Amino acid sequence: MTTYKAINLIKRPEPGPVTADIFDVVEKELPKAGSGEILIKQTQMSLDPAMFGWMSPDTESYIPPVELGSVMRSSGVGKVIESNHPDFNEGDRVMGMMGWQEYALSNGQGINKVQADVPDETVLSVFALPGLTATQGLFNVGKPKNGETLVVTGAAGSVGSIVGQLAKAEGLKVIGVVGSDEKANWIVNELGFDGAINYKTSDLRDQLIKLTPEGIDLYFENTGGPIQNLVVERMNAHGRVVVCGMIADYDKEVPSPGPSWIPVIKKRLTIQGFTMPDHFEEIPSLLSKLTPYVMSGKIKYRSHILEGLESAIEGLNLFFTGENKGKLIVKL
Ligand SMILES: NC(=O)c1ccc[n+]([C@@H]2O[C@H](COP(=O)([O-])OP(=O)(O)OC[C@H]3O[C@@H](n4cnc5c(N)ncnc54)[C@H](OP(=O)(O)O)[C@@H]3O)[C@@H](O)[C@H]2O)c1
Repeated sequence: MTTYKAINLIKRPEPGPVTADIFDVVEKELPKAGSGEILIKQTQMSLDPAMFGWMSPDTESYIPPVELGSVMRSSGVGKVIESNHPDFNEGDRVMGMMGWQEYALSNGQGINKVQADVPDETVLSVFALPGLTATQGLFNVGKPKNGETLVVTGAAGSVGSIVGQLAKAEGLKVIGVVGSDEKANWIVNELGFDGAINYKTSDLRDQLIKLTPEGIDLYFENTGGPIQNLVVERMNAHGRVVVCGMIADYDKEVPSPGPSWIPVIKKRLTIQGFTMPDHFEEIPSLLSKLTPYVMSGKIKYRSHILEGLESAIEGLNLFFTGENKGKLIVKL
């Protein structure tokens, strides 16, 4: 009997770091693809901060929680090793929701063929969730204009680093907020951001004023945290705030209070949240917007690769410590 490993979610996480006891590593018998099904050998899987929401019991969110006792939800890249599905052939390279498991049986729903001849890391770091989120959030929500000033938080992360580079390519002035000097150097010296602020240093207000002498037109929010109030205070009239993520609050029992709404009135700000599952139908058009920037070398990225299925469990905590340098990926 051929077996493979999978990881089930068996408890909801408590506030604070993720602990291994909420997961169960199980050994399963390798299934056969039935009629209309494909069997995929997953090669790399993506870890994403969204997983904290998916593990929580919240049924009011944009996607139902992962059911206890079932395989932890995640996206990944893999190869079709058996197909009884008219749209897939053995050997096809595919991406989609496959879960924390070495093999995935699927009816093809939510699984797409990978057309581009690029490494798995590039697929997951650029063309999958990070690049799609950056493209949707920046262009369709933020509506950037040449000459404007953008502040992006989580700026060395997988979404934030692409947001900043796309905005630079569109002629904006781009300031990134990060949690270490190493990340600050990377976004300025390697990615070409105009400035960086390490939110773990003091005098955040002074740094922000110095780096945004003409105020802020566009705020791409990935994290929350102490910089948020300061940025909202410095927004220009008719500024836009794109609310993509609030990782500073994901492990907290009580989220931090938000900024005052008074500047929202005075500056006539637009604040808009978005989540990618609403836009999965638009993936082809998002990819056609993103791809030329990537192909012309305007988008650099780095991937942080962990080895082996079980490394996903501890890996989740790297998001909170900021030890992930780039897109977190588990190689299987
Ligand atoms: N709306 C959507 O559809 C959508 C889709 C994808 C992602 N997102 C959101 O976008 C955000 C970024 O996701 P990502 O995949 O690109 O992750 P990421 O930025 O690659 O990794 C998360 C980063 O957040 C930073 N961070 C952790 N705790 C923080 C805190 N208390 N204050 C400030 N920064 C903190 C850390 O970087 P530092 O070292 O800089 O602190 C960490 O490396 C997340 O909030 C995620 O939930 C939303």
